[in-house]
Amino acid sequence: MHGRIFRSGYTTSLLPMVRESIISDGDNLQQDAPEGSASQFSADDAQFDEELRPQLLADVVGQHKVVERLQIMLDATRKRSEPLGHLLLDGPPGLGKTTFATVLPRELGVECQITSGPVLKAPKDLLPYLTNAGFGSVLFIDEIHRMPPAVEEFIYPAMEDFRVDITLGEGLNARTINMALQPFTVIGATTRSGMLTAPLRDRFVNRLHLDFYDASELTQIVARNARKLRATINDDAAHEIAKRSRGTPRKANNFLRWTRDYATARKEGHIDSAVVQQAFQMLDVDGIGLEAQDRRYLQALVQIFTGGPAGIQAISHSLDIPPDTLEDEIEPFLLKCGFIQRTPRGRMVTAKALDHLQMAVPTKENQQPRLF
Ligand SMILES: Nc1ncnc2c1ncn2[C@@H]1O[C@H](COP(=O)(O)OP(=O)(O)O)[C@@H](O)[C@H]1O
Ligand SMILES: [Mg+2]
Repeated sequence: MHGRIFRSGYTTSLLPMVRESIISDGDNLQQDAPEGSASQFSADDAQFDEELRPQLLADVVGQHKVVERLQIMLDATRKRSEPLGHLLLDGPPGLGKTTFATVLPRELGVECQITSGPVLKAPKDLLPYLTNAGFGSVLFIDEIHRMPPAVEEFIYPAMEDFRVDITLGEGLNARTINMALQPFTVIGATTRSGMLTAPLRDRFVNRLHLDFYDASELTQIVARNARKLRATINDDAAHEIAKRSRGTPRKANNFLRWTRDYATARKEGHIDSAVVQQAFQMLDVDGIGLEAQDRRYLQALVQIFTGGPAGIQAISHSLDIPPDTLEDEIEPFLLKCGFIQRTPRGRMVTAKALDHLQMAVPTKENQQPRLF
């Protein structure tokens, strides 16, 4: 039974596919980045992500609960020689969804195909992936919440009973052919599990949530990746980078790359705390990792909406940043810091944020006079 699992395909077939997905990741980044946002890293992020991506579960730092559950799932899968149960990974960008999704097939020695929700415009786009899926192989669907409803309905029987219903012809001549598939695993990744329909969510037997990393875990990631990049960095400097990385490994890696460039160009190449301080000053990132657009968000909430509550659409219009970007990239960290609150009536700024920004909510007296 075990022998039927496709073992040798990994190196030949996964790597180009991984690359393909990463490149599309990069495209999304650029496409989503609003004008004037701090997107100074989008140029070759994709390549960099791949270079530093952990290859095996043992290389992964932090997320202990997630790793423990995955280890159990992997052990059980190996012992039973069955495909892994369908798995949904959710969490903000840059926390390791793609990393875990590509580590798992590598651990199991099975083939992995990669695609993403927005690319699958119609069932016919998904069909080749399903028919190509070998026994026990993994189909990774990134941004699965952006899969259109028709594709979603098409994938239900594939996930549940390993079959697809294909309609041939039209009108009176239409016939439905039922095609059997090999048992396989769907790994879905999403930044918005709330946007998944209940039937799709229910088809994932395993659901794992990735949370922000703490500073010591990010310090470990920075120190390890500095070695991979053959940069020298001391512990304090690694910690200084970690502290400003908003709990996000992708940020930590990007900041490491920037400080490494800075150190090479302006200093002798060694990264110490002084180099980190100077390098960050140029990026306009403060001591806890707030970037220009986070501060703009908070300032708008304070000054335009007198502290809130303000609806996401209204904030989006004021800042000229799409609501999706606000919800995916800006708000999760502000919520985690306790700088904003989400209430049924909208977002509100907290006293902690006012304290950090050294701002006060305008009172009636010092507000702009109203015209009407
Ligand atoms: N647990 C982890 N340990 C070490 N590095 C990580 C971890 N999670 C993510 N990374 C790093 O962060 C980068 C971005 O992670 P990725 O999996 O692409 O995030 P996501 O798919 O959630 O946006 C990866 O290239 C990798 O180098
Ligand atoms: Mg990803």
